[in-house]
Amino acid sequence: MINANAFGQNFYWGVAISAAQNEGAIAEGGRSPSIWDSFVRRQGVIKKGGKTSPACDFYHRYKDDILLVKALGFNCFRFSISWSRLLPDGTGKPNPAGLQFYHAVIDECLRLGVTPFITLYHWDLPQRLQQEGGWASPLINRWFRHFTKICAKAFGDKVKHWIVLNEPVGFTSLGYMLGKHAPGKKSLDDFLRTVHHAALAQGDGGRVLREFVPHAVIGTTFSCSEVVPYSERPEDRTAAARIDLLLNRLLIEPLLGKGFPEDDKGLMDKLVRQNLSWKYQERMHFDMDFIGLQNYFPVTVRHQGFMPLIQATEVKPVQRKVPHTAMGWEINPGAFHRIIKKFWKYGAIRQLMITENGAAFKDTLHQGRIADAERTAYYQSHLAALLQAKKEGVNIGGYFAWTLMDNFEWAEGYEARFGLVHVDFKTQLRTVKDSGYWWRDFLSMQTIRT
Ligand code: NOJ
Repeated sequence: MINANAFGQNFYWGVAISAAQNEGAIAEGGRSPSIWDSFVRRQGVIKKGGKTSPACDFYHRYKDDILLVKALGFNCFRFSISWSRLLPDGTGKPNPAGLQFYHAVIDECLRLGVTPFITLYHWDLPQRLQQEGGWASPLINRWFRHFTKICAKAFGDKVKHWIVLNEPVGFTSLGYMLGKHAPGKKSLDDFLRTVHHAALAQGDGGRVLREFVPHAVIGTTFSCSEVVPYSERPEDRTAAARIDLLLNRLLIEPLLGKGFPEDDKGLMDKLVRQNLSWKYQERMHFDMDFIGLQNYFPVTVRHQGFMPLIQATEVKPVQRKVPHTAMGWEINPGAFHRIIKKFWKYGAIRQLMITENGAAFKDTLHQGRIADAERTAYYQSHLAALLQAKKEGVNIGGYFAWTLMDNFEWAEGYEARFGLVHVDFKTQLRTVKDSGYWWRDFLSMQTIRT
C-alpha cells in the first residue's frame, strides 16, 4: 500500500482539465469560435457527433467544480486559457469578460488554498487565426507571444505556475498530418511547419513568461510512450527507434538545446532535414523549471513496409491480448516507470512533473454509485511506479490526474470517460466515482501543506 506522504511534503497533487474539453459556453462572454467548434461540425469526425458545448458547462459551474477539486483533497488545479475567450480576434486587446472569467477561476482556487497551474495552449486556436494558416503560418509565433504576454500580464500577479504548450506532438500530428483533430489537415508539409513553429513557441513562451511574471515556475508538457519493438528482428527495432523519435524526442530535444534529432538517417533525410530549419536552434532552447510528462500507455511497433515514410505500424494491445483501457490503451505501470527514467536521463531537465496520467473505462452509474475499481487500480499501480522512480533519484515535483470529471474527449466525443467524477451530460449532475473517493482517502493521509 502506498502512502501520499512518501512523495514528500511539498509534492504537488493535482487534477488537470482544459478549456475546450470542459468550459462549454462557446458563444458567451464575447468568445469567438475555436478550431474545435468548427471541426466538430464536420460529418463523422467526432464519435456520436459530440459538440464542444455545453461540455461540462465549467464556465457556469466552475465554483462547484473547484470545490470538488478541494473536496477530493488535491492541492493544485491545472486548467487552460481559451485563446478565443481571451482574445476573440486572436490578436489585439483582451476581452474584458474573458479576463473576468479567468480571474474568477484563479480567485476561487486561491480562496480555497488550491494552487492554480495555467496551461497557455491546450489545442483550441481561435478559428480566425486558422483562417490565416493557424500553426502552419509563420505568423503563429508572433500571435503566440502576444497571447502569452497578455496572459502573463493579466494573471502573473496571482499565478506562479505556467505551462506553455500541451502535448505539441499531439496537436501537430493529429491536427495537421493525420486529420483526426482540429483543424483536420492531412499534409506532411503542414505537419513539418507546425512542428517547427511549436518548437519556437516553446522557447518564446518561456522567455515571455520569464520577462513578465516575477518568480514564475515555468514548464511545458510532452506526451510520451515507451516504444517496444514487436520482436528482436532488426527491422522491428529500426521501426521502434523511428516511432520513439517521433513520439518522444521530436519536440523536447530542440527545447533542451539539442536541435531536432537527426540520428535516424532514413527518416530525417527524407523528412526533417529538408524542412525543419536549424538556424533557430538557439531560439528553440529554453531552460524550463520543469518538464511536464503526460503518459497513458506504451506502444509496441513492428516494421511495415507499406507505411509511407515511417515504415512501421502498431501492434495493438487487443491483438497482443494484454490488459487495456476502454480507449484500447495498454495498461503497463512498468512502462510508465521506464519512460520517466528515460526522460530523466537527458540530464538537462531540472524537474519532472507528471502533468497528466489516467484512464478511461466503461463506467456504469448504478444506484448513484460508480464502482470503477479498474481506474483506482490504474492509479495505484502508476503511483507506485512513480514513487519507485522518485526513490531512484528522479526529481519529480508533482502528479496531476487526468481528469477531474468526464468531459469532451476530442474525436472520441463524450464516449470516453476519464473523470474521477462522473458527469451526466443531459443534466450536468456530477457523481464522484469510487476512484475519486479513493483519491480523497489517499490524499487525506497526507500532512497538510502550509
Ligand atoms: C492528452 C490531452 O492533453 C488531453 O486533452 C486528453 O484528454 C488526454 N490526453 C486523454 O486522451
